[in-house]
Amino acid sequence: MPDRYALIGNPVAHSFSPSIHAEFARQTGQDIEYARLLAPLDGFAAAVAQFRAQGGKGLNVTLPFKLEAYQLATQHTERAAHAQAVNTLKFEGDAVFGDNTDGAGLVRDVEINLEFPIVAMRVLLMGAGGAARGALSPLLEKKPVTVVIANRTVAKAHQLARRFSHLGCSACGYDELVNRQFDLVINATAASIAGDLPPLPPGLFAPRSLAYDMMYGREPTPFLKYAREQGARIADGGGMLVEQAAESFLLWRGVRPDTAPVIARLRAGEFL
Ligand code: ATR
Repeated sequence: MPDRYALIGNPVAHSFSPSIHAEFARQTGQDIEYARLLAPLDGFAAAVAQFRAQGGKGLNVTLPFKLEAYQLATQHTERAAHAQAVNTLKFEGDAVFGDNTDGAGLVRDVEINLEFPIVAMRVLLMGAGGAARGALSPLLEKKPVTVVIANRTVAKAHQLARRFSHLGCSACGYDELVNRQFDLVINATAASIAGDLPPLPPGLFAPRSLAYDMMYGREPTPFLKYAREQGARIADGGGMLVEQAAESFLLWRGVRPDTAPVIARLRAGEFL
């Protein structure tokens, strides 16, 4: 019997995670099965309990359950505690380990795949929800000169930045970005899902800057289209998607898969 894993969320139908993990398993010779698990919006804990009772070894968690997964975990990694959100659960006896691999996946994609070192860079992180929280401490670990969090609801950005102000993190509203420049601009808002663009002033992108959207889709998001017009290099969240999956796979199986061929297959449209 292969060890069982799944992605739990609502919705989960269009996720690439089963194909990504199947590819990791094939590549590393690990005998696992990875399925999609659609949980009712009010039935996350019950669905997790049932999966565990059936011998499930671990789960990836997606929207809207990352906060509930954090609350359900009995032990957290430091990065999950910083994010206050969990995207990876590992079951061992009575213990439920909660990790958050999103930020590490983002940083690996930016630094290794895109060859863009974050050290000494001016970073703008847009958004102050779960996605931004997950990214913040892994970004700060890479010693950028500054991380500015911009959010529509400015109070939320300040609340988040306050916890990390000793590491050079600050917050503002989009209107306060006028006359400022950044080397790395990361979209961690939900704006792309709605086909929207956060209200950015012109002149935001420094020469040789990278614009990164955490969302992955077939078409560039409105943010990436805008950034390209402004002269920035652009990257979508496809690499992050594979890298966060690889971090989860490592946690579960103790082996790090080779992500490059898997990212290539994702981008070639081979995964359904
Ligand atoms: P997630 O877990 O994906 O981060 P979330 O916690 O609901 O989701 O957070 C969504 C983020 O996207 C928030 O920062 C939100 O801004 P507010 O805090 O002001 O609501 C941001 N967001 C959503 N739609 C946006 C839009 N059209 N323009 C700018 N920011 C947007």
